[in-house]
Amino acid sequence: MKLVDSFGNKVSAGNRTALDFYERAVGQLALYRGDPMATIDESLANDPSFVMGHCFKAGLLATTSELGAESGIASALDAAGRHIGHAVERERMHLGAAHAWLSRDFAGAAKLYGDICAEYPRDLLALQFAHLFDFLLGNSTMLRDRPAQVLHAWPDLDARRGQVLGMYAFGLEECGAYDEAEALGRRAVELNPADVWAVHSVAHVFEMRGQNQSGVDWINRTALGWREHNFFAFHNYWHLALFHADNCDYAAALEVYDSCIRPQSTRVAGEMVDASAMLWRLRLRNVDTGDRWTELAASWEALGDEGYYAFNDVHAIMAFLATGNHRQVVRILSALEAAARRSDTNGMMSREVGLPMANALCAFERRDYEVAIDELQRVRAHAQRFGGSHAQRDLLHLTVTEAALRAGRRSLARALIEERLSRKPRNDFNLSLLTRARDLPHEESMQVAREALHHV
Ligand SMILES: [Fe+2]
Repeated sequence: MKLVDSFGNKVSAGNRTALDFYERAVGQLALYRGDPMATIDESLANDPSFVMGHCFKAGLLATTSELGAESGIASALDAAGRHIGHAVERERMHLGAAHAWLSRDFAGAAKLYGDICAEYPRDLLALQFAHLFDFLLGNSTMLRDRPAQVLHAWPDLDARRGQVLGMYAFGLEECGAYDEAEALGRRAVELNPADVWAVHSVAHVFEMRGQNQSGVDWINRTALGWREHNFFAFHNYWHLALFHADNCDYAAALEVYDSCIRPQSTRVAGEMVDASAMLWRLRLRNVDTGDRWTELAASWEALGDEGYYAFNDVHAIMAFLATGNHRQVVRILSALEAAARRSDTNGMMSREVGLPMANALCAFERRDYEVAIDELQRVRAHAQRFGGSHAQRDLLHLTVTEAALRAGRRSLARALIEERLSRKPRNDFNLSLLTRARDLPHEESMQVAREALHHV
């Protein structure tokens, strides 16, 4: 007789204590708080043959998007495989999905976790893994559609319905349904103020609408509910720093960077991505960031994960470009080139977005703005293929806009800035870009001047 978890799903746990620890780990991961890895180890200590416990561990490690997690995933899957004889069907499906990730078929892993959701709509863990992998893959529509598929199985009275709503809200936001996303995200936070992901979904809505002050107020007002012992809080604070930066309040952005985004030196890829993304935005605006890049570049170098996930590589190369570390720049470019020749998911990401974007950043840094513009203009049409959110990928648009301004490409700069203003018409930073574009000489007169010089 198999035990059944509190979601109504059968599990292979041999005793109630192992199942209790497992459920606690699922609850911690759903809210990104505490130490779910330590909790699942407690579960497995009580029952080393608990297949779902090993699958939890493998999936959690995969969400880090780090090469260094592979050995842990492989060990967890080996352990699960040794006990597969008494696994239930759902656990076998988890094993298959995690194996897909381990074989670098990231897209296959997202799809397989999605298959579990369709079959077992009350498997919150499978939904969260599918959601996070859809995020790592930039699958906007699936971020919306997978939660939509399972919502019917989470009635209003279910205490955890809010967590599904929070994920659905993020998917809706990524698909441009801002009003619906805001309403569902706010509902989820009402149901559980600790729901850091739902808070994040609403923050994205404010970001996309350019409601900077609403964003600042939202993060600060809700923070008491989610900031403690939370391993995703840094990312909500990254959004807070974005709001400050778009208000042109760079001192506030740096204060948030120091206190909440990068309060200490870590080698966690997700944290370093946000740190690079913030410092690069400030670099584009010529804001003095002190020696922050030096610390960050050293951490990227120590992680040494290049060639595993192109989204991370592009953020690593920013740190090496900013610190003038040519050797590390070459190392990242070589890894991206090697990855681009492979047929796995990251091969596609590196080929289509990662490598051209890294080359564009290199061109930008050596002030070869025409090359940077050309590369970035090509890539931006399909940049979602290397993962992340619209807010994260805005870095690409910000860089090409800055390149156009620095190259004196008045018309192009104006066009790109108008694009930004169409989405965020009252954004202080966008308005400052518009002033710069208007101050540029007309390209026709520049051409005349160039020709005149040529004839001298
Ligand atoms: Fe975000």
